[in-house]
Amino acid sequence: MLSVRDVSHGVLKDVELSADSGTLVALTGHSGSGKSTLCHLLAGFERPEQGTVTLEGRPTAEITDWRQIAVVPQRLALLEQLTAVENLLLAARLAVETTQAEKILDRLGVDVLAERPVGQGSIGEQQRVAVARALLLDSSLVVLDEPTAHQDDDNARRVIDAVLAGVEAGSLVITSTHDPRLLNHAGFTLPLGTGL
Ligand SMILES: Nc1ncnc2c1ncn2[C@@H]1O[C@H](COP(=O)(O)OP(=O)(O)OP(=O)(O)O)[C@@H](O)[C@H]1O
Ligand SMILES: [Mg+2]
Repeated sequence: MLSVRDVSHGVLKDVELSADSGTLVALTGHSGSGKSTLCHLLAGFERPEQGTVTLEGRPTAEITDWRQIAVVPQRLALLEQLTAVENLLLAARLAVETTQAEKILDRLGVDVLAERPVGQGSIGEQQRVAVARALLLDSSLVVLDEPTAHQDDDNARRVIDAVLAGVEAGSLVITSTHDPRLLNHAGFTLPLGTGL
């Protein structure tokens, strides 16, 4: 269970959210409404100025295990000199086989970067590598900041199918998005700001 209680932080005011495993939650709102800010708090990159963000009762800022919280930041945070496989294995702290990393890269249509520095990929390809990294371990909480922002319809479909497989496997997936292709699948939506 993820629990956001009475959180105010930067532009965010009195945000409340509870969600259980096996759910897809969408965060919406205009540019500057605080979607990425909330993603950072959920991922535990920082602590809220007011209120609490906990996963199974533990502040997310104290959790560093990728099996518990995996994330695609808006700016992706890939190591550009490393290959896609290396980026995935690093997040998993080498706890997966190379073949498992290759399998999810293939599923997301970025096997082309498996053995190449990801910095050589297009922005859409790099985004799908970051999505593959976040979905690799069926983590308890998966936080995705606009994961289809750079994707054409075919590749958005690949991202959405992989996200839904993660939800099916029991992950709680929280994604910020404006994309109706993804919004359609959300169990519920949390609007921020004016919700646009
Ligand atoms: N590191 C920071 N320090 C101070 N203010 C910040 C920081 N990052 C973002 N902000 C401010 O917080 C507000 C919310 O930003 P945020 O990135 O969360 O919006 P967003 O909803 O994700 O927007 P977008 O749709 O453009 O990605 C903005 O007004 C921004 O200027
Ligand atoms: Mg953002």
